[in-house]
Amino acid sequence: MRLLRTSLLFLAACAPGQIVMPPPAPVEPPSLTRVTLTPQDTTRPTASTVMSSVSAVGLSLVSGQVAVANGDSVSVRMGTMLKPVPVGASGTESLGTVRLVGRRGAGSLWLSSNGVFTERTGRLLRSPVSDSLPLADVKAIDVVGEGAAETWWLRTDAALLRVSSGEVDSIALDDPKGAGVITAVVGRDAQVALVVKGERLYLVDVAAPKVTVLAKGLGAVAAGVKLGDGATVFATTEGLVKVTPANDVVLLGFGDASAVNDVSVDGDAAFIQSNGKLFSMLVDDVRVLGDVAVPVVSGVVRDAAGAVFTLDGAQLKRLATTPEEQPVRYADVKPFFTAHCTSCHSSGANYAPLIDFTNFQKAKAAAAMSLDRVKNPDNPMPPAASGLLRPSQYQVLERWVAQGLLP
Ligand code: HEC
Repeated sequence: MRLLRTSLLFLAACAPGQIVMPPPAPVEPPSLTRVTLTPQDTTRPTASTVMSSVSAVGLSLVSGQVAVANGDSVSVRMGTMLKPVPVGASGTESLGTVRLVGRRGAGSLWLSSNGVFTERTGRLLRSPVSDSLPLADVKAIDVVGEGAAETWWLRTDAALLRVSSGEVDSIALDDPKGAGVITAVVGRDAQVALVVKGERLYLVDVAAPKVTVLAKGLGAVAAGVKLGDGATVFATTEGLVKVTPANDVVLLGFGDASAVNDVSVDGDAAFIQSNGKLFSMLVDDVRVLGDVAVPVVSGVVRDAAGAVFTLDGAQLKRLATTPEEQPVRYADVKPFFTAHCTSCHSSGANYAPLIDFTNFQKAKAAAAMSLDRVKNPDNPMPPAASGLLRPSQYQVLERWVAQGLLP
């Protein structure tokens, strides 16, 4: 009780936008248990180079297509060509120099010298919040939630920042036992984030306010991501540190190598780089996807058609052909419409305009507009009251549109 009162007083003494967290309880966290997973090497798809001599900051997705952030532009792949994405509402704004690429729902986010840009209907629009951020110091951005509840967790070497509803909070983390810089932050929701600082992994709950040390002795961290099942994983020199939604922590190794150089995520699957190889991991099913030449490839993305791309040095490589890359036909997407759309649109219930999604031609005519609405958190379909669909739920519609609306 006394501790709580002290920390509340402490909070009240700070300027708005400054949140000082109470130090964690001085309890030693348990040591990490190591589990070795053996990757299957049977279904390795062949990789092909789509483009060479790309100098890119990272890979991302724009309208379901793979995009490379290349110095002062972001370009979308069209076959073997790169087409720049227009910037600003009029297409005349300048992007500046892109430094970082992050994920935002099914799309991406770019941090450049001129601000933070997000994609909206095939354009890059600058967020006004950029003005209040120390742009040059920001090392990573993790986005949680959608629409009005969207929250960004950012890190600089020294600070943890949170942006929600246009407000920027600076969160001070103080642990007398843990020194060092902040090397990773992954938000769980708008209040809770997992943070790696020095050799320690913290669970930071801003609402409580409470900080818990979940693990110590972490190696250097290269990246952290959230998986579809709510677990969070960090690529470290000791292995892949996995934190379950119940806050159990395990250390995963792949084959005989321990260091994990990078990890990215696509829906429920994680892509892991370790020991010159790229693996996919779905729960405990780990497969070898290919060999990589450089120690750290900059990100792995899966486009709307299901193809997996990676940036290996100066080469944009495509890992052909995953089972997900089978063409999507109308018969594959029809169950999606039946499950989520026809209850209103077949009958006109809830004042919905009549759209016959059970008819191929009608569904085809409405597909592009439907995808726009399904992906638009500000004006979603189904209407917001029934809850937004997750990218893994509407992926089939996205792939149907991307592959040319096959009958
Ligand atoms: C709870 C009822 C409901 C459900 C479920 C629903 N819609 Fe709608 N939809 C509406 C209403 C009401 C409108 C008209 C108001 C608006 O545009 O927001 C609408 C409008 C639309 C429009 C715009 C039509 C036009 O001509 O402007 C599209 C496209 C659409 N819905 C697609 C979908 C898709 C795709 C799904 C399933 C993923 C879906 N809707 C599920 C109620 C619903």
